[in-house]
Amino acid sequence: MRIVRAGERHLDGVMDIENRSFTDAWSREGVADYLYAPDGELLVLEDGDTVVGFAIYHVSFEDAELYNLAVLPERRRCGAGRALLDAALKGAALRGAQRMFLEVRRSNDAAMGLYRSAGFAVCGVRRDYYDAPREDAVLMDKPL
Ligand SMILES: CC(C)(COP(=O)(O)OP(=O)(O)OC[C@H]1O[C@@H](n2cnc3c(N)ncnc32)[C@H](O)[C@@H]1OP(=O)(O)O)[C@@H](O)C(=O)NCCC(=O)NCCS
Repeated sequence: MRIVRAGERHLDGVMDIENRSFTDAWSREGVADYLYAPDGELLVLEDGDTVVGFAIYHVSFEDAELYNLAVLPERRRCGAGRALLDAALKGAALRGAQRMFLEVRRSNDAAMGLYRSAGFAVCGVRRDYYDAPREDAVLMDKPL
């Protein structure tokens, strides 16, 4: 298994994970925008031809934001999410970011467990930020 910057060949796998992971999934075009983004990356964890998970982050000056992170449902709880998060944190630091932000649904215990264990702390709440279903976003950040 290895983590690489995604190419066109990974898009079907990324979209399969995206659609199986989120009720408010990103469009294929929205995801594809990050294939060649100069200020961020779409990273994939691949196992042979299988995309096991992916992460998208963006850097703007000293701030990075984790836009998306998901793992194939049948491959969760095996360290893939943590490996992708670590790779995104390293990539953002290499691009000069000094902290990373993210937003997560208040009910998403798995993701909040992962982020807390990686050193993220809650720094705010956005009321009714998400649709389908409507829910608060918890903001978290971590110094790099
Ligand atoms: C969140 C997600 C990416 C985690 O990926 P994963 O590969 O299962 O995570 P890991 O195996 O690397 O887990 C790392 C740590 O996260 C925490 N964690 C992961 N899943 C958890 C769960 N279901 N409940 C509680 N804590 C959990 C644990 O601390 C875990 O460490 P441990 O296994 O040693 O206890 C995955 O659950 C997922 O794809 N969810 C759907 C998409 C999503 O919600 N993305 C986040 C959007 S903000």
